[in-house]
Amino acid sequence: MFKLGLLLSLLILLLLIKLKNRAERAKRCLPANGFPGVWTSYLNSVSNCFYSKSATKDACLRFPGSLFTFSLLGQWVVLAKAKEHVRELCNAPEDILSMESAAEELLQLRHLVGPLFSDELYHIPVIRTKLNFNLEGILPPLVDEMHNACSDIIDTQINGGDWTSIMVSPIFSRIICQATSRILVGDPLCRDEEYCELARQFTDDVLLMGPVLKFLVPKLLRPWAGLAYRSIFKHQERMEKLLTPLIESRRNLRRNSVSDMPNDMLSWLMEDSPLDKEHSTRSLSMRMLNVIFVALHTTTKTFIHALYYLASQPQYISILREEVEQQFDPDDLTTWTREALGRCVKLDSFLKETLRLKGLGAIWMPRLAVSDFTFSDGTHIPSGYYVATAATAVHEDNNLYESAHEFDGLRFASMRKGPKTLDGLENEKDWQYRMTGNSESYLAFGGGRHLCPGRFFASMEMKCLLAYLVLRYDLKMKDGVRPSDEWFGPTLNPARNGEVLFCRRKV
Ligand code: HEM
Repeated sequence: MFKLGLLLSLLILLLLIKLKNRAERAKRCLPANGFPGVWTSYLNSVSNCFYSKSATKDACLRFPGSLFTFSLLGQWVVLAKAKEHVRELCNAPEDILSMESAAEELLQLRHLVGPLFSDELYHIPVIRTKLNFNLEGILPPLVDEMHNACSDIIDTQINGGDWTSIMVSPIFSRIICQATSRILVGDPLCRDEEYCELARQFTDDVLLMGPVLKFLVPKLLRPWAGLAYRSIFKHQERMEKLLTPLIESRRNLRRNSVSDMPNDMLSWLMEDSPLDKEHSTRSLSMRMLNVIFVALHTTTKTFIHALYYLASQPQYISILREEVEQQFDPDDLTTWTREALGRCVKLDSFLKETLRLKGLGAIWMPRLAVSDFTFSDGTHIPSGYYVATAATAVHEDNNLYESAHEFDGLRFASMRKGPKTLDGLENEKDWQYRMTGNSESYLAFGGGRHLCPGRFFASMEMKCLLAYLVLRYDLKMKDGVRPSDEWFGPTLNPARNGEVLFCRRKV
């Protein structure tokens, strides 16, 4: 008993020394927000987890123009807000400020999903090239699947012409999963219950367990904890089992003639491998999990935020409907084109504004300094530190956006109306105000070498779905007001229990 007490005291002492060293080290680096003391700074960590949006904004006001440290449950992050700092963070080489190492460390992907998840990254060039070059061709099946999903999931709940209350979070998570998956794995797997359940749950499981493993489990025990987690959730095995018959049949097709391959992500990933050295079924299922990880959660969250804005400010329904009606025939979905979608400037602006105010969280674009890095103003970041952007503080800065806190669905549409050049070409900055445009003042899709390559697809998908909804339904919030957001540390999520009233339009 005495020995056990001694051992426990020793462990606690070691932990305290470690925490003290860590806090002192962080504080030596740069000015920090909150209480100045080494131990009291841990109080900041706790409060910053609950109020990260206001805390980052306060800290940005306290240290204008300079980098500063921000504590999150024992994890210190150096935050950048000024344009030049953001630009340098975006453009820093991967072998100095690493996004991959930051994601790996913060989410413990190697342990939770398996080493192959982070070791092979060939889905990224496939998204950059094959997905983006095929956007025109995949629009018809995407819209078709949205229609299938909405008919099966929304229309079956609506009674005649009555207003019907729908809890949008689970419903649209399913609709977006099914529509996106039509482009990932094709038809009929995109509608398979087991597949959809796995695809929707996978990201949530990893985002929840990653921080738990990082902050609560000692480094030495993480491989074992990861092994236990993997043997319970079996994400990779389950995906492999679902994809195996499809991969086998595509391999047969591929051996005969490449032109017969369906036009979807699975085919593109397979085509990416040289014929003599095919990617294994295990490797392909890991890639598919990786694409699902980056594509589904982000699009679903953003779309639900947009839906809450639309239903709580119904004046936008008629504005968007008028624009969309000029471009699309609601009864003939096969006529919908990317070109027509490109003419829906207000729809684009509405979604871009949603992402400005309701992005992924208060802090994003994390990078881990794998070597020392010095910003051009002389600020030195030692190896081992995390650097990230105070994204909400940027997006809600009144110096960058007029009435920055207010939602103005047509903000970016008005900005696009800038002067045309003499030869009638579009305003030089027009692309910046499109949904897919980015700058140091608009960080929704990140920036620099890791700028989101899936943003063109995400934008097309969300615009199609929003256009489809305003053409087919009238909608309003059940309680009249936008439901409060949910924060998980610095991560922002739309309310899970928000209810929107839907009514089928009489066209
Ligand atoms: C509204 C939807 C989306 C949002 C808000 C979003 C946002 C982001 C952000 C913030 C980053 C990190 C950039 C950085 O750290 O600099 C990122 C990276 C990435 N996104 Fe997206 N994304 C969305 C949809 C998608 C979709 C649909 C796909 C795939 C089809 C995708 C694929 C990726 C990939 C592969 C990366 C990593 C790029 C790299 O490491 O070079 N994203 N995204």
